[in-house]
Amino acid sequence: MEFITVDPSFDVNIALIRLNRPKDLNALNLQMMGEIRDSLKELDMDKSVRVIIITGNDKAFAAGADIKQMVDKTAVDMLTIDQFSTWDQIRKTKKPLIAAVSGFALGGGCELAMTCDMIIASESAKFGQPEIKIGVMPGAGGTQRLTKAIGKARAMELILTGGFLGAEEAYIHGLINKVVPNEMLMEAAKELALEIAKMSPIATQLAKEAVNRSFETHLEEGLLLERKNFYLTFSSEDQKEGMSAFIEKRQPNYKGR
Ligand code: CAA
Repeated sequence: MEFITVDPSFDVNIALIRLNRPKDLNALNLQMMGEIRDSLKELDMDKSVRVIIITGNDKAFAAGADIKQMVDKTAVDMLTIDQFSTWDQIRKTKKPLIAAVSGFALGGGCELAMTCDMIIASESAKFGQPEIKIGVMPGAGGTQRLTKAIGKARAMELILTGGFLGAEEAYIHGLINKVVPNEMLMEAAKELALEIAKMSPIATQLAKEAVNRSFETHLEEGLLLERKNFYLTFSSEDQKEGMSAFIEKRQPNYKGR
């Protein structure tokens, strides 16, 4: 890995991916996106990992797709490079993903954070889709996810002006889960991850899939998937353990079976 670092045992059942291209504010080039995709795939299969945190550094989570890599490309180049198939694979990660964001989360960086399931931000975080300022528009889900998260009026303004949304505003408008002081960012992300990692990994993955489906389908189909996944949790040992522990007034010990 050249542009990211991966720690599969950042904490008990928690893995950490750190975007590590600081000189270019973690601009997401094709190799880096491939590295993120490959590491997520590996961590998704690693039984010791239950939750994955993705972070950057103090100045930038990621300042967007790599403009230097795209400047000379034609539409046909972009089509054949097909960078978004990498994004599609990232979106299919089964385990919960938490983005821990400090500094700039712009363009593809904002889209990567929104591809995660939850976002914890430090007070310095700035979210935005400034592609319009360089003559293009969001391409990795920004027009859809930002609009669903913060509503049409605000998303339209951000996308058409290229303006930034500060952490506090992002919180108020429902884009992110929590704002914390800069030095508390990783602690807060870890706290949330550890809370989720205590749950049955089977129930967690099925619930994640069902919540995400609400964005992708109409109510009838979403409810059907929710119901099927709910039934499926009853085929796990974790369901017996969780319900028995409740009745026996003890903490559950989930094995992911
Ligand atoms: N791509 C490539 N390089 C980038 C970059 C990007 N998205 N963002 C920053 N960098 C590079 C800069 O070119 C600079 O490199 P050099 O030192 O070699 O010149 C270095 O990172 C530091 O950047 P700045 O000097 O510009 O830092 P700053 O603090 O003055 O400004 C910033 C920070 C406001 C984030 C500014 O860098 C900026 O506007 N970046 C571009 C943001 C952007 O337009 N993102 C959208 C990209 S397109 C996209 O993402 C498409 C999509 O939907 C998939």
